[in-house]
Amino acid sequence: MTMKLLILAGDGIGPEVMAEVVKVIEWHKRQGLDFVVSHDLVGGAAYDAHGTPLTDATMERAQGVDAVLLGAVGGPKYDNLDFSVKPERGLLRLRKEMDLYANLRPAQCFDALADHSSLKRDLVAGLDIMIVRELTSGVYFGEPRGVSREGNERVGINTHRYTESEIARVARSAFELARKRSNRVCSMEKRNVMEAGILWHDVVEEVHKAEYADVELSHMLADAGAMQIVRAPKQFDVIVTDNLFGDLLSDCAAMLTGSLGMLPSASLGAPMENGRPKALYEPVHGSAPDIAGQGKANPIACILSFAMALRYSFDLGAEADRLEAAVEDVLAEGLRTPDLGQDEDTRSVGTQEMGDAILKALDAR
Ligand code: NAI
Ligand code: MG
Repeated sequence: MTMKLLILAGDGIGPEVMAEVVKVIEWHKRQGLDFVVSHDLVGGAAYDAHGTPLTDATMERAQGVDAVLLGAVGGPKYDNLDFSVKPERGLLRLRKEMDLYANLRPAQCFDALADHSSLKRDLVAGLDIMIVRELTSGVYFGEPRGVSREGNERVGINTHRYTESEIARVARSAFELARKRSNRVCSMEKRNVMEAGILWHDVVEEVHKAEYADVELSHMLADAGAMQIVRAPKQFDVIVTDNLFGDLLSDCAAMLTGSLGMLPSASLGAPMENGRPKALYEPVHGSAPDIAGQGKANPIACILSFAMALRYSFDLGAEADRLEAAVEDVLAEGLRTPDLGQDEDTRSVGTQEMGDAILKALDAR
């Protein structure tokens, strides 16, 4: 079956790191994988060409592919644009219209970088956990909201609201992922103080019992979960949680692994007719205007995002493993882009050299 990819490289270092992903895709095509790749504009690049950060035509193309690969959007050139045409709006429109409700943020620690972590080496070396954050509901979206007046003072209101179906669909995403990993899910909420937390817990239990009894399920209060993530992160495989807790817990877990230049992500929606989920893969970092155009951006976050696409959109787990292992190999050899630091055992390389080294490591595996 062909695998259709739409590449939206975006702004700043986006096109630089995406060029290395294109090489990785070409490598996989040479191995016989049937990727069909198209390219389009998003963010400031789309604004420059069309006066909007995402055209309707691009939106339509994104709906028609198996996976969208996005670089990064934004930059100082666009900081003073009207809110409605800011580069970020392009990304938000993609997420919203594709209804990408499950945000996947892995925290993966490569052995060669374990000393970069804020934690002790043995707590994080080999760490591979996945936080699934509900992305389209909860307290960031609930109504009523706003700042109003009550008597003599102002009051700020946000509403934490989840429907049963919103919880069930993100729970399914987490269970599906767990089956492609170590088959364990830990659900986090605060049912001790929140009614929506009680519902969250109960719906996750129901979905588990009815559809995913083969997956090991546990529950943890989200505050205790935060403690456990920094105390003993390797106890987890997949963590599923709501929008607010997921925002905090995923940033916290990300710092276990070191540089922003290493962190991939995915946003998944409902399964399409071919069974593959709607999907957008992107590095966690932004367009890094401070280093754009200098050929020194770290392409690994973007390359690992493609590894996630291999695993979660196309069920190519072995290929994803091999790509991740190739990244591990070049790091073990001592290659480092500047963001990863330097010592006497490492060699500083640029974006393209890092990409080429990963291809060579793929050849060798
Ligand atoms: P940023 O992630 O672009 O950069 C933060 C710092 O990390 C910078 O010092 C940068 O050089 C470094 N960095 C980031 N990615 C790197 C990589 N791959 N290799 C080496 N170093 C890397 O965040 P910042 O500076 O807050 O935002 C810059 C622009 O990016 C803004 O316009 C912002 O709105 C946009 N942005 C876009 C995102 C997206 O497209 N999803 C996410 C975050 C920010
Ligand atoms: Mg955040």
